[in-house]
Amino acid sequence: MNQYLINGGQRLEGCITVGGSKNASLPLLAASLLGEGESTLHNIPQLSDVQHMVEVLESLGAKTYSDGDALTIEAQTITGVSISENSMRQMRASNLFLGPLLARLGMARIPLPGGCRIGSRPMDQHLKGLAALGVDIIERHGYIEAKSAGMRGADIYFDVPSVGATENLMMAAVAAEGTTVLRNAAREPEIVDLQNMLNAMGAQIAGAGTSMIRVNGRRPLHGTTYTVVPDRIEAGTHMLAAVMTQGDLEINDVVPEHMSPVIAKIKQCGAEVSVKGNSVRVRHVGGIKPMEIKTMSYPGFPTDMQPQFLALMTLADGTSVMTETIFENRFQHVDELRRMGAKIIVEGRSAIIHGVKKLEGAFVEASDLRAGAALFLAALAAEEASVLRNIDYIFRGYERLEEKYQAVGAKVQRMI
Ligand code: EPZ
Repeated sequence: MNQYLINGGQRLEGCITVGGSKNASLPLLAASLLGEGESTLHNIPQLSDVQHMVEVLESLGAKTYSDGDALTIEAQTITGVSISENSMRQMRASNLFLGPLLARLGMARIPLPGGCRIGSRPMDQHLKGLAALGVDIIERHGYIEAKSAGMRGADIYFDVPSVGATENLMMAAVAAEGTTVLRNAAREPEIVDLQNMLNAMGAQIAGAGTSMIRVNGRRPLHGTTYTVVPDRIEAGTHMLAAVMTQGDLEINDVVPEHMSPVIAKIKQCGAEVSVKGNSVRVRHVGGIKPMEIKTMSYPGFPTDMQPQFLALMTLADGTSVMTETIFENRFQHVDELRRMGAKIIVEGRSAIIHGVKKLEGAFVEASDLRAGAALFLAALAAEEASVLRNIDYIFRGYERLEEKYQAVGAKVQRMI
């Protein structure tokens, strides 16, 4: 597995440009199956998760062509309805083909998602919604077999505001007769991106970004050209890098209104944040104030920034508390941070972090994407050398990370 050698303690200064959102790109790629004709996505990030999604598209019969940051998908002929177990185990977001395949072909066969490092990640809300649309679902031999002779709109209430379930149901409902209402829907900006692309393809959807989404179904959809929204989690990660290295970074191609909870917390810890158009400048000198954070569904504090903020808190002047309400096992980065001298106690869903003056260099291992990002930040802050292993996890969600950080003064290099 790839690894980074990071000589920490460098003050980072300069500009970093954020790429397209991973968590918007994946549903948009699945949605491209719904249009008769070609769809072209701009600002698609070069990430291993995106590459994996493209491979699944091609395994279903679609053709794809990339040109720089633009990716064209031609989905006239879809020859398959099955997602392999290997695909699902590699990436849970493979389940986002469920809705489009049912909409397009009236059937889909996908593996039940195996557990993942951060939690069990069930699909009950996806299946409850599809059943309400009239889809017949059988679970057997570890697979979900779904088919429908014709979906009909329904009024669906999600017990949990699931991002993936909201996206799958939006993509299924565009083919259902009549109107579908999704209540207690997830409100993330990536769902608004999906609504915008589907409407550009000819769909009639309203309400994304609120907890009630209305879909008028059975409209013919055509291909379109769409630009992916910037990645708010990548942007937040870079902002923390400025704080943790006592640096001064200007982060460009950001949508500031997608960053409100993150910007609020960065200001609360004592850093200086200035927003100008789609740029955010973060400067910090001096101590880091301790704080309490609880992860919530959007527009609350994002769980995907929890590991990175926990790394920040290891250096605070006092005791902080981080409570993770979304996933039941998202503190795998704690043991690795302890190896760097952090003082953290995990009690159930909360981590109590007693700040230390500085972190020590160490050999540490990424267990998942955002844990890897947290350890990357911790190593940049430590005033010694660290080796970060299993960085293939990081490539799932961060494009050209070492290149972007070398350009602002970080001493990081990739070792095979
Ligand atoms: C999306 O995952 C993101 N992934 C995750 O980002 C993100 O952490 C998560 O939303 C929450 O914001 C993509 O968008 C590709 P959920 P998703 O369904 O859709 C429970 C990253 O690091 N739940 O909103 O799988 C579930 O167990 C990744 O970029 C059910 O109970 O998340 C969890 O506790 C990690 N039943 C909560 O809801 C269901 O049917 C949120 O899950 C579905 C979910």
